Amino acid sequence: MNKKSLVSIADYSKEDILRLIGIAEKFEKNPNRRLLEGKVCATLFFEPSTRTRLSFETAVNRLGGRIIGFSDASTTSSSKGETLKDTIMMVSNYADLIIMRHYLEGAACYASEVTNVPIINAGDGANQHPSQTMLDIYSIFKTQGRLENLEITMVGDLKYGRTVHSLITGMSHFNPVFHFVAPEELKIPDLYKNFCDKKGIKYYEYTDFSDEVINRSDIIYMTRVQRERFTDLMEYEKVKNVYILRNNMLSGSKDNLRILHPLPRVNEIAYDVDCNPKAYYIEQARNGVFARQAIICDVLGIEVK
Ligand code: CP
Repeated sequence: MNKKSLVSIADYSKEDILRLIGIAEKFEKNPNRRLLEGKVCATLFFEPSTRTRLSFETAVNRLGGRIIGFSDASTTSSSKGETLKDTIMMVSNYADLIIMRHYLEGAACYASEVTNVPIINAGDGANQHPSQTMLDIYSIFKTQGRLENLEITMVGDLKYGRTVHSLITGMSHFNPVFHFVAPEELKIPDLYKNFCDKKGIKYYEYTDFSDEVINRSDIIYMTRVQRERFTDLMEYEKVKNVYILRNNMLSGSKDNLRILHPLPRVNEIAYDVDCNPKAYYIEQARNGVFARQAIICDVLGIEVK
């Protein structure tokens, strides 16, 4: 495997994560640095995206690099039957870095095995979304002033939500307590519970999104029910509005609580929460530019001073 690719947040040690936070801080102070001059970066999005693609492209533009790619695979030769392997090998002829989102779990890992060009996984099915995790952890660090010993409540689609799966893995270095709030149909997979057990991380599961869990939390990580992952849309209809966070539910919450959401939201955070100073999801998305600048430089081996 290409050692420089970022396929899973598990590719990063605790030290790597802390180092990348330091680099993201530098980019936040000064995002415009021409460190990618002469480099071409490809964004291959086989699934829809707003934030991930545009923040990666902003990151590359602010670093002085050039972008090629697509946001709609139906306009590419994959619609004629070209395989992922061939697509990756072709783009490797043109680009110094490939940033790829794909609907199949394991697609980024596979891509990294067929090329020597670094691959950044921008989301592979319900599996992983490591650059989102870096920006989530950066956001947690900025708002809490630390990463250790936090109570993190994850709410919604914990079965299919790749951002949740990555965040559990990424935060596992920092002794968190996890609260998993999900309906029976969308419970956190055993894989992640076994992972927490193995690492000695405490977690609790709930089907109610109660005041008790809200008031214990340092971070509430809301998620959208992932309609695109359901094979039976009747099942989606049953759970799509299962939890809605409203402003009046935050009256007893801790002062340091911050509400995160990878976005897009559908109905799970009411608009009256947006004016609450504890709502952080818009700034969180902004942090994506700096975290992704840090990741891009890291995989390309570019020193940031
Ligand atoms: N958070 C996230 O991955 O958003 P997009 O799907 O808009 O990229």
